[in-house]
Amino acid sequence: MSRHDTLVSLDRRHVWHPYTQEKTAPDPVPILSGKGATLFGADGHTYTDLVSSWWVTNHGHSHPVIAKAIADQANTLEQVIFAGFTHEPAVTLSARLSERLPGDLSRVFFSDDGSTAVEVGLKMAIQRGINQGEKRTRFLTFEGGYHGDTVGAMSAGRASGFFDAFGTMLFQVDALPFPETWDDDPDVEAKEAKSLSLLSDYLDRHGKECAAMLIEPLIQGASGMRICRPEFLKKMDEMLKGTGVLTIYDEVMTGFGRTGTLFACEQADVVPDVICLSKGLTGGFMPMSVTVCTQEVYNAFLGDAFDQALAHGHSFTANPLGCAAALASLELYETEKTLDRIAAIARIHRERLDDLKSRSNAHHFRALGSIAALDMRTDSTGYTSSVGPKLKAFFMERGLLIRPLGHVIYLLPPYCVSADELHMGWDAIGDALASIS
Ligand SMILES: Cc1ncc(COP(=O)(O)O)c(C=O)c1O
Repeated sequence: MSRHDTLVSLDRRHVWHPYTQEKTAPDPVPILSGKGATLFGADGHTYTDLVSSWWVTNHGHSHPVIAKAIADQANTLEQVIFAGFTHEPAVTLSARLSERLPGDLSRVFFSDDGSTAVEVGLKMAIQRGINQGEKRTRFLTFEGGYHGDTVGAMSAGRASGFFDAFGTMLFQVDALPFPETWDDDPDVEAKEAKSLSLLSDYLDRHGKECAAMLIEPLIQGASGMRICRPEFLKKMDEMLKGTGVLTIYDEVMTGFGRTGTLFACEQADVVPDVICLSKGLTGGFMPMSVTVCTQEVYNAFLGDAFDQALAHGHSFTANPLGCAAALASLELYETEKTLDRIAAIARIHRERLDDLKSRSNAHHFRALGSIAALDMRTDSTGYTSSVGPKLKAFFMERGLLIRPLGHVIYLLPPYCVSADELHMGWDAIGDALASIS
């Protein structure tokens, strides 16, 4: 049996894949190695990764600088308990992140992935209220928001529709309509005004009971790359300031350059009280996340009793290998002029999106930094739209890893992607629109 076939058959016997209907899904594709934007399959095929492997791979696969940093760290200190102990990679990373984050976002709490970063943010908000003698038990979110798959994150994202089976496990959250927009949208101001007016009503009624508002800033990823304008976020922030409701920005996907600036909050000129970061934090090499808060939020947890401390931690909190990867990744933003690379990607996205605007079966064109998206006009929309698997198969045939979110086709490439590789992706999208209905 070939190596490819052996891997597939062992996988089929023993592995259970995420977000996959194992009965009907095609066989998984065994990948042996990666370099830059290319993944090398066990069957000899190559795939250009135009979704950064679930939005994590920033600088490219197996980037030698990050790989070396992890190897060096593994030979020095692979892990140490983070309660009562600390270590150089965690301390240096915390200081570097604080320098790069806006305002006084300067207290770094480590966890393991995007979902747990969000859990920590929610727990900070609830306990801050308790520590300050306030009864704040509600959370506010946006419809369509997705924040991860742990119970708190699912509750916050329940309006995304992914979690119907788990309804009985989830707590209640309140949700406002998200003023989703796109190129040449005549209704954007009306949609924003409606959301702001509902926010104002909500704050009048529930402002004193609400612990935090949790937001994916500028773009909701999993619910279909839905964009809002930065000026809307700014107005919202002005309304929230002074109400005691914390703003938690979930920048798990948008962080580290995805939207064109290092963090999306910079474009809205907003400093949230809490920011959640993961995915690109380690350049996509290691599962790690941080929840960073202001000194003011941190101060609410200081006291003489343990009761006031944040009782949260994971076995691998601030794992040194993850910290070393994150430090190496941050360096690359300087040495490889990563933000310039993202600007070059954005220019190609803009040009190629504009070219597709004459297609009758596509609409809602939008681009933001390294992300570009369009919706196919189909009978069934949403994540389970039947056109999604057809599109995915079409792109895989062409050696392209592009995973539409149902009827939403998007590109979110690693920043090392070449112009030729990116154009290949756009050519294939044009061909898919011409041949798939
Ligand atoms: C905005 C956002 N928050 C949280 C998460 C959850 O991250 P993870 O899958 O690492 O738990 C995701 C994952 O896609 C995300 O896009």
